Amino acid sequence: MHRQPGAAVLLNTGISHRIGADVYRVLRDILSSGDAAIDPILEQILSKEGKCIRPAFMELVAGLNGGTWLTVEKAAAVVEAVHLASLLHDDVLDGASHRRGVATVNARHSDKISVLFGDYIFITALHMARSIGNRDAETVLFSAVTRMVGGEIRDTLENGFCDEETYLDIIGRKTASLFAAAGEISILLTGGSTHASRMGAELGECVGIAFQIVDDALDYTGDHSLMGKPAHIDALTGNITLPLIYAMKDMSVVERARVFDGSLSIDDICDLVVERGGIEYSLERAREYISRGKYIISQFGNTEFIDIFARFFDAVIDRNA
Ligand code: FPP
Ligand code: MG
Repeated sequence: MHRQPGAAVLLNTGISHRIGADVYRVLRDILSSGDAAIDPILEQILSKEGKCIRPAFMELVAGLNGGTWLTVEKAAAVVEAVHLASLLHDDVLDGASHRRGVATVNARHSDKISVLFGDYIFITALHMARSIGNRDAETVLFSAVTRMVGGEIRDTLENGFCDEETYLDIIGRKTASLFAAAGEISILLTGGSTHASRMGAELGECVGIAFQIVDDALDYTGDHSLMGKPAHIDALTGNITLPLIYAMKDMSVVERARVFDGSLSIDDICDLVVERGGIEYSLERAREYISRGKYIISQFGNTEFIDIFARFFDAVIDRNA
């Protein structure tokens, strides 16, 4: 059976496949416009389901708090729609040619079309957020999007060597913000206390940071046919992420300059990152965030979910896409 690059990632948890189908059914329902100019491109976008890792996480957090998928299904579709919208904008910012194994909307159509479909999906998602019927959940989502865009602005402005602290701030905002919202909203919708919803947010923050660190490591080591997007795009576009930050940490100013002045090939840069321990260090940091996540889960006292989350965490760390 042919599988899309990302869809297999969470199969070992037994959740991603079913949830992906549910989420994409809801997305088709809410996004279809009946407008012949919009729907064909929308269908191209929706025909490649992503990993649905945020919705899968929401099901687990709902379960952790005694709820079910049905309680969070609509909110999970909203979160996935916001994620999808952000990718349509991100691919323009990164000049990305492929995602999920197919040409991006910016490559297939244009930057303008990608930005406009990002806007369309984003605003429709916000409309749908209002129908979830929980004002606190809405506020959490809106704040997360503000934080996400702020992170992306800083990422774009930074544009050069940054230190680990700056990197963690950027990925916390651009990526972990939506995971944190996903965790918090899942607790809110399943009737959790303010304290529990804060724990859900912190859990999501840890998962999101670990997820982005692994994503950035895969950019150096991953197989682009499995990732469904070109490898080494960060190194090629001068986006300095943790593997390279670590590899460059003890370099002189002159050595650092050589990384960017064109004297090194992309293969040289990848070798340098691996040889100087950038991948090993990054994955170690990701595991630290996952350990914190495991501790937070233990605080919920729902032992049934400890093993389920352990499989989810393994899927976040040991993935190839
Ligand atoms: C992927 O980063 C991008 C993000 C996690 C966030 C992008 C957010 C925006 C562009 C702000 C716009 C937001 C909305 C809601 C319209 P990456 O480039 O490291 O990941 P990749 O390798 O998958 O491209
Ligand atoms: Mg990108």
